[in-house]
Amino acid sequence: MNCLETLRYGNSILKSSNIESYKLDCELLLAKAMKVSREELLVNLQKKIDKIKLNKFKKLIERRKKKEPIAYIFKKKEFWKFNFVVDNNVLIPRPETEIIVEEVLKLTNFRSSKHFLDIGTGSGCIILSIIKERPYSIGTALDISKKAINIAFSNAKMHHIQNKVKFVNINVDKYLGNKYDFIVSNPPYINSIEYKRLGKNVRFEPHVALEGGVDGLSEIKKLILKSKNLLKKNGKLIFEIGNKQMIHAINLLKKNGFYINKVCNDFQSIPRVIISTKII
Ligand SMILES: C[S@@+](CC[C@H](N)C(=O)[O-])C[C@H]1O[C@@H](n2cnc3c(N)ncnc32)[C@H](O)[C@@H]1O
Repeated sequence: MNCLETLRYGNSILKSSNIESYKLDCELLLAKAMKVSREELLVNLQKKIDKIKLNKFKKLIERRKKKEPIAYIFKKKEFWKFNFVVDNNVLIPRPETEIIVEEVLKLTNFRSSKHFLDIGTGSGCIILSIIKERPYSIGTALDISKKAINIAFSNAKMHHIQNKVKFVNINVDKYLGNKYDFIVSNPPYINSIEYKRLGKNVRFEPHVALEGGVDGLSEIKKLILKSKNLLKKNGKLIFEIGNKQMIHAINLLKKNGFYINKVCNDFQSIPRVIISTKII
């Protein structure tokens, strides 16, 4: 078979498995099997494929057919301006989470020397992007999952900032740390019922990274209560929320001595990130 025929074969399998991005995915997977770039593949479509590479491609197609996310198959995901290693022990970073980084950058400058805490760091994408952009600052990243902490640490090493970020494997409930200038977080916020309804591609991701209890607010509550003690006065708490959680989160923040600076919408105009200041 040549590359074009192989792509057609892969397309038909992924299309019949209802994978919307079947065409692009096939090209990426065939390029991976052949160890070439996608561009190189597309200008050599008549090239014959040897049996070993074809078998490799078939195995990749089988994984994708079962809805395994492309990011896990490639073990990497781009977030903000950087690449991060990911596997099924961490959430795949989402583009809407970049709003947190964007807002932190607006509130600081290149020379700012701040102490950041990232609660539920996962791959480390938020804190590591911030520290890359604000090299005079330092960070602490915590996660209840030891495997996530290991991935985040290797991402820090990959970006040569492992000495600027401390990693702690702990439940946020038990964490007693310094006073921080900024707390950032993308907590699990999907409620139990919604979680059960979610598609198979999300089910590849760790349950602990997604589900936030019966109402989806249990980790958000913990985050706000903890931040009240862990933030310096006038420190900022910037975090992501789920669909329809804005009012609850704002009420909780106000009850706990926070001023609401701003709520940012995501690309679908859904309120997604709250920026608040500890005023008491
Ligand atoms: C939605 S994921 C976010 C990961 C990453 N920050 C991102 O935005 O891609 C939430 C993370 O919080 C962690 N987590 C959940 N409950 C926690 C808790 N009680 N204490 C500390 N970390 C927790 C999970 O292990 C997971 O890595």
